[in-house]
Amino acid sequence: MHGLPDLIQKNKSWAENLNAEDPSFFSELAKKQIPEYLWIGCSDSRVPANQIVGLLPGEVFVHRNIANVVVHTDFNCLSVIEFAVAVLKVKHIIVCGHYGCGGVKAASQNRHLGLIDNWLRHIRDVRNKHEAVLKDIEDENERHDRLCELNVVEQAHNVCHTTVVQQAWEKGQELAVHSWIYKIQDGLIRDLGLTITGLDEIAEAYRVAVGNDV
Ligand code: CO
Repeated sequence: MHGLPDLIQKNKSWAENLNAEDPSFFSELAKKQIPEYLWIGCSDSRVPANQIVGLLPGEVFVHRNIANVVVHTDFNCLSVIEFAVAVLKVKHIIVCGHYGCGGVKAASQNRHLGLIDNWLRHIRDVRNKHEAVLKDIEDENERHDRLCELNVVEQAHNVCHTTVVQQAWEKGQELAVHSWIYKIQDGLIRDLGLTITGLDEIAEAYRVAVGNDV
């Protein structure tokens, strides 16, 4: 078996449809990209950034990894944030997790899975930080959902503490960090209420978003 003819054909139809709607779409897109949004989401195939917020090519810059984790030593993620903020001048960074996240679930199970254990360690840290609240949630699915939400809040909080974002705010650049969670079962996004637009808002917004969890 060679190639993937089905996908190549789907791509052709997709491009033809876009061209039919707007014959200058691709030629204009080729000139430059001016996205307003940076999306940091999970790699899960059911949570595709562009589709779920109805954006076209050119409208959202995207970074995805398992369980939408933002680590201060991850130069892949940090480089994406730097390019998006310093060069593209995006106005919004959206950290979007999802309920039923397999990465978050694996992190809560303490099983040894291999290399990914090191990555999931960051989510285990989130779980440990909020253990007092999580342990009081008896229903396993509800507890898992809450950890998915807390993971988004913590990762958005990490975005706010990156040097790139801090410097942008110090310079007075317009930039908001949002924390969202997507539900695969209904296709809808919930805003978790942690929207931060400047250095002085971080502490209070975080406190409100986690409630009495810490
Ligand atoms: Co996931």
